[in-house]
Amino acid sequence: MSTPVKIGIIGGGLMGREVASALARWFVLDGFPVRAELTAVCDLAEKQREWFRQIPSVRLLTADHRELLSSPEVDVVYVAVPHNLHESIYLDVLNAGKDLFAEKPFGLDLAAARTIAEAARASGRFVRCSSEFPFLPGPQRVYHAARTGAWGKVLEIRSGFHHSSDLDPTKPANWKRQVRTCGEIGVMGDLGMHAVHLPFRLGWKPKRVYAQLQKIYLERPDGKGGMTPCDTWDNALLHTDVEIDGRDVPARFEMKRLAPGETNTWFIEILGTDGGIRYSTKEPKTLWTFQRGKEQLWQRTDLGFHGPFPTITGGIFEPGFPDCFMQMWAAFLSERAGLLGEKFGCVTPEEAVLSHELFDAALRAHTGKAVVPL
Ligand SMILES: NC(=O)c1ccc[n+]([C@@H]2O[C@H](COP(=O)([O-])OP(=O)(O)OC[C@H]3O[C@@H](n4cnc5c(N)ncnc54)[C@H](O)[C@@H]3O)[C@@H](O)[C@H]2O)c1
Repeated sequence: MSTPVKIGIIGGGLMGREVASALARWFVLDGFPVRAELTAVCDLAEKQREWFRQIPSVRLLTADHRELLSSPEVDVVYVAVPHNLHESIYLDVLNAGKDLFAEKPFGLDLAAARTIAEAARASGRFVRCSSEFPFLPGPQRVYHAARTGAWGKVLEIRSGFHHSSDLDPTKPANWKRQVRTCGEIGVMGDLGMHAVHLPFRLGWKPKRVYAQLQKIYLERPDGKGGMTPCDTWDNALLHTDVEIDGRDVPARFEMKRLAPGETNTWFIEILGTDGGIRYSTKEPKTLWTFQRGKEQLWQRTDLGFHGPFPTITGGIFEPGFPDCFMQMWAAFLSERAGLLGEKFGCVTPEEAVLSHELFDAALRAHTGKAVVPL
């Protein structure tokens, strides 16, 4: 048996625990060549650290991320902290000589993303950024169908991610609702990477953008009996042009915290003159494909469990969030080991910088009510 890759987590909140969950059931991956083990966790909050005590492989729990980074028990560091801390902690990880699995949006803003990407390049370490939904079976089918290009002339692309819990004005604010900690880009930093990962990987890079950004609730309960300002963008519609086969094609990226009825909906739709494809996590087993023949036909395929990396789970069962998150980790660790081959990979630093270039241009487009070139 090979030595396991030793993983450390900085930020043991919502996403830190998801990583712990994926690593704790690593045996689900069938015949996967890389073993992985969670060895160390850092979080400022004792309550968050305590949760990780139930994981036998965790040998170090600390409130100081530098202590985790100096440990020889850590090869790869996953960082899931508020966005204003991305740049300094990601740079610390690289300076400590560790590989980095970063969370989106890869820095608070474009300048931070560029600094991190340059440090990643100079360090020679393996660095990728998180975005898990493309690893579900449906998005994988979209990706492979897009590469064969049997759609005639592509007419338009829609890709997005919708949430709805912010429709409730009594939902307390957290760091994701404030510019200081979430960034001026707001919802684009929260949800944007999910919308752009697959289109960017297909080579569909926006040439220009017009943006409609909305702030809906300007204050929320602070959880202590008062109210606190919420100054980030809640919803964003980015209208762009991408070039496909020498023609400009409209591509709309949608990110919403207030989308009625959508708890956590990732979707993509690509329409062409001869064919098309549509997938949404709202119907996680369903893939819709369009064919233009004598009659026009939207065909529904009932999908099974097949992610890019084989698992012990039966092929007819339904996949969900923990499954695509685990598949994303399998992609990260196989690419790190040079074993990814033709399989779909995690977001690269270059793609993360490109996403920030789009979000930065979108801010300017919205302010000036103008189309901004990229
Ligand atoms: N991939 C996804 O689907 C997804 C989903 C949600 C959030 N995220 C991203 O994950 C990151 C974290 O989001 P979250 O929802 O887990 O947030 P969270 O608030 O649940 O957790 C953040 C944790 O970081 C800890 N922390 C803060 N400063 C720290 C420091 N200096 N050192 C160590 N720990 C520190 C906090 O105590 C907290 O436990 C963000 O970048 C966010 O955009 C990704």
